[in-house]
Amino acid sequence: MARYTEDQIEQVRSANDIVEVIGASVRLKRSGSGYVGLCPFHNEKSPSFSVSPSRQMYKCFGCGAGGNVITFVMEYENYSFPEAMEYLAERVGISLPKKELSMQQKREENLRMTLVEINAKAARYYYATLKSPQGRLGYEYLRGRELTDETILRFGLGYAGQGGGELYRYLKKEGYDDAVLKETGLFKMDERGVYDKFWNRVMFPIMDANNRVIGFGGRVMGDAKPKYLNSPETKIFDKSRNLFGLNYAKQGKRKSFILCEGYMDVIALHQAGFTGAVASLGTAFTEQQANLLRRYTDEVLLTYDSDGAGVKAALRAIPILRRNGITGRVVHMDPYKDPDEFIKALGKDEFAKRIEEAENSFFFEISVLRKNYDIRDPEQRTKFIHEMARKLLVFGDKVQRDSYLEALSAKYTIPQDDLRRLVIRYSGMEPEGYREAMEEKRQESRRQKANKEPEGMGYTYQLFLSWLVDKPGLFAQVRKIIQVDDYCEEPYHRVAEMLYGQLEQGTPEPAKIINCFEDVTQQNAVAKMFQTTFDAEMNLRDQEKAINELALRIKEHSIEQKIRSLEDVNGLQSLIEQKKALQTPGKLHISLKDG
Ligand code: UTP
Ligand code: MN
Repeated sequence: MARYTEDQIEQVRSANDIVEVIGASVRLKRSGSGYVGLCPFHNEKSPSFSVSPSRQMYKCFGCGAGGNVITFVMEYENYSFPEAMEYLAERVGISLPKKELSMQQKREENLRMTLVEINAKAARYYYATLKSPQGRLGYEYLRGRELTDETILRFGLGYAGQGGGELYRYLKKEGYDDAVLKETGLFKMDERGVYDKFWNRVMFPIMDANNRVIGFGGRVMGDAKPKYLNSPETKIFDKSRNLFGLNYAKQGKRKSFILCEGYMDVIALHQAGFTGAVASLGTAFTEQQANLLRRYTDEVLLTYDSDGAGVKAALRAIPILRRNGITGRVVHMDPYKDPDEFIKALGKDEFAKRIEEAENSFFFEISVLRKNYDIRDPEQRTKFIHEMARKLLVFGDKVQRDSYLEALSAKYTIPQDDLRRLVIRYSGMEPEGYREAMEEKRQESRRQKANKEPEGMGYTYQLFLSWLVDKPGLFAQVRKIIQVDDYCEEPYHRVAEMLYGQLEQGTPEPAKIINCFEDVTQQNAVAKMFQTTFDAEMNLRDQEKAINELALRIKEHSIEQKIRSLEDVNGLQSLIEQKKALQTPGKLHISLKDG
């Protein structure tokens, strides 16, 4: 643990009831021994999110989210582990004295702080250069693109000089080592020396949501290639988790955000008063970026370039937004390429009109589809309509799907009943059973996915450990057959060790085990370990058979591992015999009757 002792973490976790914490932001309904609600981590119309008061865990069958109360706060608020700890401690009035960081952790934290500091200094240096006589070219370029002094200052735009070594010399004078400077990604280092990565370019500092400069983009002032050069990923810069302009866009309440492609688009939009603009910076829009936006808005206007690549990018972004509970609408900028050019040519009032007219993202998807067909040809028109019917299946909610169906049939003059019949045919069900059918399909693909996952022994361990949590009464039998060291892979070994410890004391507390993992992805994975359950329909005899098969597989694998890592031959004989003995009837047997 980085900053907190195990006891502190457990104290904070157990003082915060998971139902209360989640209930404050998700509407929960009682169902059996637990609660269910709509999952806050993906868009859904029927609840697949459940919270268990006895286990103090939550899970979503739809998107795989899951964990304990700390995991929830990390996922929901987008907090780091320490941030979630602080939040939950404060919620129940526990004060947390900080534990000393280890040397390694201190070094890492110091390095990150230093990188942030250097990036800030570099940004100030580039800005100062822009405003000095050496920066005249850059300054004139930006003014030529109609940016005001105020905008230049607000976005901290700058200029990297022509020498190719100014920033390096400046930072050396400030006392930084080459080793640290190398980590900034701002320099090229080889046998012949050190050079600035950026030279003779106008500079765009990239800030994170907390206004820290984490990287740069630099643009050539003419037509040379590459047009933009960007900082590489570093210890502080992860492209897929940041959006350019978010630090400003997140200020103030607004109905929707504007998502565009480039630096200049964001800046031109902000200057024109559209301060909700952010950019994914030329890389494909990611799930993490959608998750970041979801904290601030539920509607995103897409203003991707109107060329083919822009349309493709929009088509990729729309489902990502949809999955994350964000409605997408597409702003058309024809005949201009991007928001910057549009505003320059027609002004902000016209742009505001285009926003008003923004197209529903589903209609956009259909109209792109439409372009693949010549609908005057009856064959092609038929294909188009079939494809449209299939697309309508993305709506699991019948009312919503019907609204879209009606709208499409009007728009493309297709008799409603015909379209509806096709949709029913593709969903393979009667209309009333539609939703259940979709749910069933989803369950099925989840089952298949789960079954496809037995990379190594992971799935076997998962099933066995969750089953043990469900039936603690059988621990006495299990421990005689399978010991902690028989779980040969991490993190299963570590989890088993903790679980066995708890079972020896009495009750299993899976939520407590999750405490030991700091990373949300790890927490999700460990939570999943306790969610993998057998089919509820399975009868006792089949269950017993399944359990014993799992136990056998674990034991066999463990002995095989030992054989592989064996050094002297004497032990080998004994292991081979042990392995053979596993096959003897009755030798290894867990009986469910005692559970
Ligand atoms: P565009 O090529 O659409 O450029 O790239 P733009 O934003 O219109 O730029 P201006 O108006 O000519 O200055 C969109 C975004 O893709 C990334 C940049 O983030 C850019 O803003 N990009 C583009 C690069 O990273 N490298 C490149 O060489 C080109
Ligand atoms: Mn542009």
